[in-house]
Amino acid sequence: MSQQQPDNSTVACEDPLAKHRTPKGFSDQVAFRLTRLLRFFADSFFAQRYGHRAVVLETVAGVPGMVGGMIRHMRSLRRLEDDREWIHTLLAEADNERMHLMTFVKIAQPNWFERMIILLAQGIFFTAFFLLYVISGRTAHRLVGYFEEEAVYSYTQYLAEIDNGKLENVPAPQIAIDYWKLPADARLREVVIAVRADEAEHRDVNHGFADSFDRPEEVRQ
Ligand SMILES: [Fe+2]
Ligand SMILES: [Fe+2]
Repeated sequence: MSQQQPDNSTVACEDPLAKHRTPKGFSDQVAFRLTRLLRFFADSFFAQRYGHRAVVLETVAGVPGMVGGMIRHMRSLRRLEDDREWIHTLLAEADNERMHLMTFVKIAQPNWFERMIILLAQGIFFTAFFLLYVISGRTAHRLVGYFEEEAVYSYTQYLAEIDNGKLENVPAPQIAIDYWKLPADARLREVVIAVRADEAEHRDVNHGFADSFDRPEEVRQ
């Protein structure tokens, strides 16, 4: 296994699930600080209610891939240029996040207040992320990279609560068994591990997309 890291600013941790990219420059700082701020609000609001947290935040997580994919699709049509695999990758990410939502909504039902937050969050976040992507695709992908770092961390906490018995390790929903091809007797613990692996992949892909903006031959802004 290679010890080489793609970038010196990526802190190499023993656990690949705990990877963190140190912010470098203004765009990274904006993305990182915004992520920390939103994390603070999420922690304050949801506390230890991990199932509810997953449902509400997955409704947000499904937005960036669709917005980024849509913008890059339109750009490809206008410029008559291929977008290599970016569009497909981003739309696949959006669909993967939607499957996380379809899974967790079988485990925790949002209350009426959370449903209101979901509506409000989609309106605000869709618009804000769209504008951010148009202004700076690099910052938009960096922001998603940091969101995904937080998602990995949150699902690790969720897993710990299952392992220490504070949360019941209920049977996995059928939709999750089918989607991740889990054993028929899979439990919530296996679902959380599968979801967390997806988030780690989104993290690496989005940090990688953000990095590629620094290599203009690879991406057209
Ligand atoms: Fe997710
Ligand atoms: Fe994700």
